[in-house]
Amino acid sequence: MPTFSIHTYGCQMNVRESEAAAKALLDAGFAQAPDEETADIVLVNTCSVRGKAEDKALGKLGLLCATKRERPGRVVGVMGCMAQRMGGELFKRLPRLDFAIGTRCAERVVPAVEAALHGDTTLALRDLHDRPDAPNGHVAGGFSAFVTILLGCNRRCTYCIVPDVRGDEWSRPARDVLAEVRALAAQGVREVTLLGQSIMNYGLRTPAFDADDPPSPGGYTRPFPRLLEAVAAIPGIERIRFTSGHPSGVTEELVRLFREEPKICHHLHLPVQSGSDAVLGRMRRGYTREAYLAAVARLRAAAPDLALTTDVIVGFPGETEADFQSTRTLMEEARFDNAFIFKYSPRPGTVSATWEDDVPDAEKARRNQVLLGDQDVRGARINQALVGTTLRVLAEGPSLRNPAKWSGRTPGNKIVVFTPPKGLRPGDFLDLVITRAAPQTLYAD
Ligand code: 5AD
Ligand code: SF4
Repeated sequence: MPTFSIHTYGCQMNVRESEAAAKALLDAGFAQAPDEETADIVLVNTCSVRGKAEDKALGKLGLLCATKRERPGRVVGVMGCMAQRMGGELFKRLPRLDFAIGTRCAERVVPAVEAALHGDTTLALRDLHDRPDAPNGHVAGGFSAFVTILLGCNRRCTYCIVPDVRGDEWSRPARDVLAEVRALAAQGVREVTLLGQSIMNYGLRTPAFDADDPPSPGGYTRPFPRLLEAVAAIPGIERIRFTSGHPSGVTEELVRLFREEPKICHHLHLPVQSGSDAVLGRMRRGYTREAYLAAVARLRAAAPDLALTTDVIVGFPGETEADFQSTRTLMEEARFDNAFIFKYSPRPGTVSATWEDDVPDAEKARRNQVLLGDQDVRGARINQALVGTTLRVLAEGPSLRNPAKWSGRTPGNKIVVFTPPKGLRPGDFLDLVITRAAPQTLYAD
């Protein structure tokens, strides 16, 4: 049987969809290639969020398609956000490409591969108002799994391509989510990360629960906390994470759940994007600096050990030095454990792309460096304060850099490198005293 390899760009949603595609290919009898070089079928799962992400994937696809000159039977396909955004244009740019399938289309991978093996090309794009099922299959063997609960996004921030490539928000029925998590727990999964672009909107635009579903024991009325509570009740699941958040979803019920449900990790990715109200307004983020910080304060009051991470865009149209300084001070006030900083990139078809991209690239790069520098200092300081504390670590396996050591993760999703006790298996939990800290890593010697 031909072998396959999947290369994934972009967010965890894409990682999840690549996994579902891999499972479908395995079920159809294809085998995972030991490496991309030797694979008969190569899929590239793509991201459109910034121009640079697209350029990288196009470069990669160009090289892969060039290998078809020597290996004419090789199959090269593209899936995900770029396929959805660019459609047939991809075949013009990459004449040897075999197929392009858009988002929410993992179930079309096997037919597209089979068609390609017969020499046919496929272009399959999703009608983004459809309501298909979320990706379902998992490759067995892990102790940590992603579960998609919400597709699409309706928020329409002015810079963002996601609504165009992933379509309308659609919540997967709670019953289906819970069945999937139960099946994962039965296979040995201990930690689940629930995924959705604006996950706290779960069940708000399309129903998630119906009248037959059992009532919430804790009296949660909002669908998202109610789902989290139900996931936490599944035996075998020890840790629950979810991403990404929005301050409007940090409701009283969600905060109560953070306080009362020990399986909910005290870890949240809460993209802020900017600390300036003027910029937030033009981004149409739907909150002010003050509202964002208030949401953080509510969370920290319930979970003082909360690890908070964020995304920031620098160089948004019209961002002044004063706006930028507001972002710097917000990041310090919010005490982010980690931050992903992006240079603004105009995306075709978005509202902000019609505005002048007026911050020069060199200035974007400078602001990026300044924020990264601040974050390094802050991250080191926050991690240093963890030295001497005991943290519960989910053991993952031998460390990549030094196989004599293992690595694992804390509830705050920080990596801990430690000496493994005898008989330790991946997926075991252990309590470790932190002895040393670096900006991105903790050590338990
Ligand atoms: N330019 C730069 N960064 C962007 N992001 C989303 N759209 C853009 C854009 N047009 C960033 C945001 C988002 C993260 C996934 O990517 O910070 O949270
Ligand atoms: Fe990239 Fe957004 Fe698509 Fe994820 S949803 S792959 S971040 S464009």
